[in-house]
Amino acid sequence: MTGSILITGASSGIGRALAFEFSRRGYSLGLCARRLELLESLRDELAGENQVAISRLDVAELESVPEVLHKLTDELGGVKIVIANAGVGERSFPGEGTFHLDRKVIEINLLGAMATIDAGAEMLKKQGGGQIVGISSVAGFRGLSGTPAYSASKAALSTYMEGIRNHLKQHKIEVTVLNPGFIDTPINSHRSSRPFLISAKKGARLMADMIEKKVWSSTVPVWPWAFITEIMRQLPERLWCKINV
Ligand SMILES: NC(=O)c1ccc[n+]([C@@H]2O[C@H](COP(=O)([O-])OP(=O)(O)OC[C@H]3O[C@@H](n4cnc5c(N)ncnc54)[C@H](OP(=O)(O)O)[C@@H]3O)[C@@H](O)[C@H]2O)c1
Repeated sequence: MTGSILITGASSGIGRALAFEFSRRGYSLGLCARRLELLESLRDELAGENQVAISRLDVAELESVPEVLHKLTDELGGVKIVIANAGVGERSFPGEGTFHLDRKVIEINLLGAMATIDAGAEMLKKQGGGQIVGISSVAGFRGLSGTPAYSASKAALSTYMEGIRNHLKQHKIEVTVLNPGFIDTPINSHRSSRPFLISAKKGARLMADMIEKKVWSSTVPVWPWAFITEIMRQLPERLWCKINV
């Protein structure tokens, strides 16, 4: 056995594809999300030599995050990697009566991820080391006008993870921040334009390679997004404002 991995948001999209990819690579899995029935069928599909533990978890119920992650870790007999992947995307604009959507995005994508990282760090410290992975986004590199709260949640998550790296390093815990471009999942299937789209299977394979190499941060795939995000970062605000429609 290669080790054990906890994945939040494993019922769909990237989390589900990562579960298949890491199972193929010999890892035991602790999988959580709100839709337990999807996790149950995923566990049946994954049935093989590696152990799979599942649990219902809403990461926005912050107090329940440590309890569920500890329970899954106990079932697996320890954990090596914790992946904070659960996330939602909502279109919302200020002054339009949709602040509840902004709040939901921040509670799930930022606070839920931080609660996952906090509980994960506590467990990994006790075990003498490991790795924490955050699924951020290229949307965090600049404020996107269509999904400003989503952009803000991912920018904050990436910044938080950059900030915790040195502290966790002292405890032999590596920090990996992955910034996917467009990966074909339900979160973006309604969009008319999804440039440089790749399948969830391919995205999971690339991400698993990066996680195993313990990269600090990367776009997924590296090209063309490393180039595009560098340009995004460098553009003066007035120019960004013109093209960010
Ligand atoms: N697909 C892309 O192009 C792309 C690009 C950049 C970043 N990302 C990020 O990748 C991550 C996964 O997204 P995806 O593309 O795989 O979308 P997805 O198919 O919609 O999956 C989202 C996952 O998050 C879970 N989730 C949502 N709210 C949750 C909550 N409150 N508590 C626990 N789990 C919750 C969902 O499970 P339940 O509904 O069952 O709870 C689901 O398993 C997200 O953080 C997203 O922002 C995706």
